[in-house]
Amino acid sequence: MLIEIPEEIQGPRVLLRPLGPADAPAAWQALEQSREHLAPWIPWVQDLRTLEDARTAINRSRTRWQRRQDLSVGIFNRETGRFLGGTGLHRIDWTARSFEIGYWIRQDAQRRGYVTEAVQLLVRLAFERLGATRVEIRVDPRNTRSVQVPERLGFVLERTRRESAADPTSPPAVRWIFSLLQADYARLPWGGARHTRGRGRGSRGEPPQSRAAKD
Ligand SMILES: CC(C)(COP(=O)(O)OP(=O)(O)OC[C@H]1O[C@@H](n2cnc3c(N)ncnc32)[C@H](O)[C@@H]1OP(=O)(O)O)[C@@H](O)C(=O)NCCC(=O)NCCS
Repeated sequence: MLIEIPEEIQGPRVLLRPLGPADAPAAWQALEQSREHLAPWIPWVQDLRTLEDARTAINRSRTRWQRRQDLSVGIFNRETGRFLGGTGLHRIDWTARSFEIGYWIRQDAQRRGYVTEAVQLLVRLAFERLGATRVEIRVDPRNTRSVQVPERLGFVLERTRRESAADPTSPPAVRWIFSLLQADYARLPWGGARHTRGRGRGSRGEPPQSRAAKD
């Protein structure tokens, strides 16, 4: 039986949903405008050379969503509907209930907190709806802006991991592994602990779905 996943999650400023064929031109335009900023950190950007490539990637992502193999979503501006970037729950282990979050934002939408909000929504989804035991974020330590996302949200820097480099002559790449376990999430000011602290409706910690319905 398929695990039930909401097709749309709304936060105060962003909306997350899987991309469909109609999103291809907007996603393609965002990628085209952001190549320089994305390329050093996101290898798959090089593989998307045409609008048709973007369509194919969206279709593949849709299939993986339907099979619950990977839950990639677009980040949209909730007010205007503008496509801002991508994130999602990846490397899913449904047996262990562990998930990894990745993210990117178009160049002209950086530094407004959209990514931090989107990741927060996914963490809540993972722990509160999908029974997560662990949520992980892997970052290249040289990618300062990326490192700041898990740090800002209270993730625990767990360890350094060496990963083989794409080019066999290069030294292994290093990743910092940030994680949240259920107990960590429960202790976060915006996390599960809000249930026991008696925060009222409309507080910062309210689940994204109900918050959206009220706004
Ligand atoms: C990594 C990346 C996603 C980070 O984007 P970002 O814009 O820095 O992250 P956010 O959207 O969370 O914005 C945070 C900034 O917005 C500011 N901000 C403004 N309003 C905010 C709000 N309401 N809430 C939180 N932050 C807010 C924060 O202070 C912070 O700014 P600062 O860095 O000057 O302190 C982006 O740089 C990127 O796409 N890089 C290329 C791809 C990449 O590296 N992906 C990660 C691979 S692991």
